[in-house]
Amino acid sequence: MSLRPQRTLQLPERARSMPASPIRKLVPFAERARARGIHIHHLNIGQPDIETPREMLEAYRGYDEKVLAYGHSAGLREYREALARYYVEQSIQVTADEILVTTGGSEAVLFALLAVCQPGDNILVPEPLYTNYLGFAVMAGVEVRPIPTRGDDGFHLPARAVIEARIDERSRAFLYSSPGNPTGTVFGREELLMLRDVALEHGLFIIADEVYREFVYGGDIHTSLFHLDGLTERGIIVDSVSKRYSACGARVGCLLTRNEQVFDTLLRFGQARLCPPTVDQLAALAALGTPSAWLAETRREYQARRDVLVDALQAIPGLRCTRPSGAFYLMAELPVDDAGRFCQWLLESFDLDGRSVMMAPGDGFYVTADAGRREVRIAYVLRREDLLDAVRVLAAGLEAYPNRT
Ligand SMILES: Cc1ncc(COP(=O)(O)O)c(C=O)c1O
Repeated sequence: MSLRPQRTLQLPERARSMPASPIRKLVPFAERARARGIHIHHLNIGQPDIETPREMLEAYRGYDEKVLAYGHSAGLREYREALARYYVEQSIQVTADEILVTTGGSEAVLFALLAVCQPGDNILVPEPLYTNYLGFAVMAGVEVRPIPTRGDDGFHLPARAVIEARIDERSRAFLYSSPGNPTGTVFGREELLMLRDVALEHGLFIIADEVYREFVYGGDIHTSLFHLDGLTERGIIVDSVSKRYSACGARVGCLLTRNEQVFDTLLRFGQARLCPPTVDQLAALAALGTPSAWLAETRREYQARRDVLVDALQAIPGLRCTRPSGAFYLMAELPVDDAGRFCQWLLESFDLDGRSVMMAPGDGFYVTADAGRREVRIAYVLRREDLLDAVRVLAAGLEAYPNRT
C-alpha cells in the first residue's frame, strides 16, 4: 500500500478563517528589536502589572488535598454561592443556581454564542470590538455584524435606526463589552435601555461582557445589564476574575442567566468539558474576600494612569483621543496614513536612546474593511513613569516618521 496521501490535505473553512491575534504580527519585530538591545514599552497588551491580592495567592499555596478532583460542571457550590452574594452587593439580583462558572471569560463568551446561535446566524457587536469575539464567532459559525461607533462620540452607541438597519431574520444577539475593550467606553443607562428595547422588539439576546465592571473612573456609574428590567429571558452576563483581581492566569470566569432553558443548555456545554479548574476556583473564592480597599486602590491607580497617559497623548500634535471612563485601554488616532506600518517601523527602525514602544494597530479591532487604519489601541497597564516615557518615545517617533500626514 502506498503511504503517499491520495488527496491534498484540506482543513475546513473554519480552520482557514480562524483569525490570528492582530498583535501577533508585530511580535517578531519586537523580538528582533530586543535582540538589538532595545527596551520596548509594551502598550499593546492587557496584562495588568498590579499584584494579585495576597488572599488569592495564599489560597493557591494552601491547597492541601490528596487528590486534585473534578468539581461540579457548573462550578463549585461554595464558590457560586459566594459569587451570588458578590453580585447582590452590586445590585445584580442572581442566585447561585443562575451562575455557571467557566474557564475564563473567554469560555463564557463562547458558551453564550453556542447556546443562543445556530451556525449561519449573526450577532451585532459595537465596533471597534474585542478581537477575540471574532475567533469565538468563527468557532460558533456565526457572522459578526459591526455596529459602527465613532471616536468623536466617545465610541458610544449610534442612533437606534443605525442599529436596527443591521438586524435581519438571522440576527440572534447583541454582544458588547462595557467598560469596553478596546475603547474604555462605559455605556450609560439610557443607551443600554435603547439596546434592550431593540433586543426585545426583535427577539434578540443581549450578551453583556462585564469583565471590567470594577474599573469605572471619575464618578461614572457602571450600569450592569441586570440593572435593567425586562431581561430575565434575554439577558446573559459574562464575567471573569482575570482583570478584577489581576489574575489572568487563574482562568476563572462565569456566566449569569436567569433563563432556565439557557442555563440548562450552558450546563450541558459545561458537562461536555467536565468542570472549570478546581484549585483556581478555590483561589477565586478567596479573592472574593479581598478587602474592598484593594479594589479601591487599584481603581485609583488605573485612573491616575489614564489621566497621565491621556494628558501626555493629547499634547502630541495631530494625535486624537478622548478620555475614556473605564477599563484600561483607549483608541488613539495618529497623524499617519497606516498605523500598522507605523507600529512596525517603530520596532524596526526607531529608538529613542535605546527605547521603543509597541502598540496594537487599530484595524485589527474592526470588521469593517479599511476602518481603524489610523488608530492604535493603547493599554495603560504600566507604571506612570513608564507610560510617560512611552509617550515621549511615541512623540519622538511621530516626529521622525517619514510618512507622517
Ligand atoms: C472584553 C474582554 N472580554 C473577555 C476577556 C477574556 O478574559 P479571560 O481572561 O477571563 O478569558 C477579555 C480579556 O482581555 C476582554 O478584554
